[in-house]
Amino acid sequence: MDKKVVFVTGAVRNTGYAIAQRFAKEGWNVCISSRDDASASEAVARLQAEFPQTEFLGLGMDQSYVDQIHAAFAKIEERFGRLDAFVANAAHLAVDYNTFNTTPEMWDSVMNANVRGTFFCSQSAAEIMKKTGGSIVLISSVHANQSITGRVAYSSSKAAINAMMRCMAVELGYLGIRVNALIAGAIWTERWATQSEEITSKRRAQYPAGKESAPEDIAAAVYFLGSDQSPTITGTEMTVDSGISVCLLPYNKNWNQPKE
Ligand SMILES: NC(=O)c1ccc[n+]([C@@H]2O[C@H](COP(=O)([O-])OP(=O)(O)OC[C@H]3O[C@@H](n4cnc5c(N)ncnc54)[C@H](OP(=O)(O)O)[C@@H]3O)[C@@H](O)[C@H]2O)c1
Repeated sequence: MDKKVVFVTGAVRNTGYAIAQRFAKEGWNVCISSRDDASASEAVARLQAEFPQTEFLGLGMDQSYVDQIHAAFAKIEERFGRLDAFVANAAHLAVDYNTFNTTPEMWDSVMNANVRGTFFCSQSAAEIMKKTGGSIVLISSVHANQSITGRVAYSSSKAAINAMMRCMAVELGYLGIRVNALIAGAIWTERWATQSEEITSKRRAQYPAGKESAPEDIAAAVYFLGSDQSPTITGTEMTVDSGISVCLLPYNKNWNQPKE
């Protein structure tokens, strides 16, 4: 039987790269995208060295542009003739844009990448998956439901992604296509490597689990949702957030100390 095929967007580094590695490790063929062709090719070379048995396809795609989305999915169909899982990982993070400094251009840029891009990628994925069924996993965020400052456009875009997920789960179920959202909390990325140990410790102390998710932790949950391991899970939000979102007050591990 042909190997299954996954497409992970924005996967040349951080979480997306770990998701690509996980599917390759499980024996799938893997397509990845970057807005930059050269970065996609370079990431494919790294992955190919680690997984010589896997076929990889690197795609240059800025998902703000629907013509680029259509071109990327056409290449996947041409190369593999199937798509079993689609992971919408790419996102414009838009950090430090608040109610006052968010310009119309920034708002559009975030919405075009995160909402429009995620939707039209999912639409193209579903067009290919119609033949065989499949699974769509949209990477969302705790910011969809809770707030810190400077994330107004990003948070709005992730809330839209959650709503989009529910609609598509209902609409695509009869085709054997499942759609779920992975609600991520803090994930270790290259950005964590640039912060001081003091900040890292402070951040970790705020999480009930005591640490941020490793990209591999997110990848494990995405693989669960994206593969046959979860055949009847659709329309759901799976949270992998170190316990951040169930914490009513700023977390303090000393709450747990037994009373004298
Ligand atoms: N890191 C966290 O703590 C955290 C927490 C909750 C949720 N998440 C979500 O998890 C996913 C991965 O996050 P990450 O921190 O690992 O991300 P990241 O690597 O910083 O970003 C993902 C990739 O998206 C692509 N991208 C960025 N802006 C884009 C745009 N305007 N249009 C198209 N592609 C764009 C970039 O790839 P190219 O530059 O190669 O195009 C980037 O590498 C995202 O959906 C994010 O919202 C992250």
